[in-house]
Amino acid sequence: MSNNLLKGKRGIITGALDENSIAWKVAEKVHEQGGTFVLTNAPIAMRMGEIKKLAEKTNSEIVPADATSTEELTTLFNKSQEILGGKIDFVLHSIGMSVNIRKNIPYTELNYDFFQKGIDVSALSLHKMLSVAMKLDAINEWGSVVALTYMAAQRTFPFYTDMADIKAMLESIARSFGYHYGVAKKVRINTVSQSPTKTTAGSGVKGFGDFYDYAEELAPLGNASAEDCANYCITLFSDLTRMVTMQNLFHDGGYSSTGISTELMQKLSLSNS
Ligand SMILES: NC(=O)c1ccc[n+]([C@@H]2O[C@H](COP(=O)([O-])OP(=O)(O)OC[C@H]3O[C@@H](n4cnc5c(N)ncnc54)[C@H](O)[C@@H]3O)[C@@H](O)[C@H]2O)c1
Repeated sequence: MSNNLLKGKRGIITGALDENSIAWKVAEKVHEQGGTFVLTNAPIAMRMGEIKKLAEKTNSEIVPADATSTEELTTLFNKSQEILGGKIDFVLHSIGMSVNIRKNIPYTELNYDFFQKGIDVSALSLHKMLSVAMKLDAINEWGSVVALTYMAAQRTFPFYTDMADIKAMLESIARSFGYHYGVAKKVRINTVSQSPTKTTAGSGVKGFGDFYDYAEELAPLGNASAEDCANYCITLFSDLTRMVTMQNLFHDGGYSSTGISTELMQKLSLSNS
């Protein structure tokens, strides 16, 4: 099904590692809606070769870039404009990595080198992308940038350790840069706070499976899938949401507004009825 919501729009999509990646689904949906884009990921992620399948399927080119390197990001924005034949209209930041999580290090004993690495990869990379894009004047007026985040930025989820603090920083960068890019070029910047989703990054979090089930039972609509998230991103890239900027938008089936569900109360024998 296509409504051509993104016809004529050019973009950059980061973070498609395999077909479970949220970015993978976004790329498929953008293609369906008539948009064109360049795919990018860290050079190390290219070795798995999966992204090439997505490139073929969506008729797009790949430009590798480590999102912590301003030099590589500059090449990414320059090459993308060449390949796509004009300035960029939308960018998806779908990048997250914590060495502390990977190594199962508890929050109270974080390794600070790993913490710095996590900040650089998962939060500062958004600032670097935006700064590079602004310097090159690479994004069209009314362009839209979306970064993916998680609700641990607002509420404590102990298993999310340093990524909670890193996501809080990511959301803050989206707001702060959203002001400056909005004033300068009317470029919009938002974060989408997504439900737990079964991807490589998601499943790397200890206890993820149990928490996924818990969130599924708490949210009145259940967990939002990667496909649902991709659909939401499409609306944010489209002109239908052109006055939305500097927002953290919950896309979680109502989880963030729910205290407790009847199902969970019954499971915990808290219900008298
Ligand atoms: N899966 C979830 O439960 C969930 C929930 C909310 C938000 N998110 C966020 O969604 C985004 C995408 O994650 P995902 O769940 O699709 O997992 P994923 O593992 O498929 O994607 C993470 C991507 O980050 C890329 N990356 C890591 N280091 C990089 C670097 N230095 N330069 C460029 N790219 C780099 C990886 O190669 C990978 O493609 C992340 O920001 C994640 O925190 C995920």
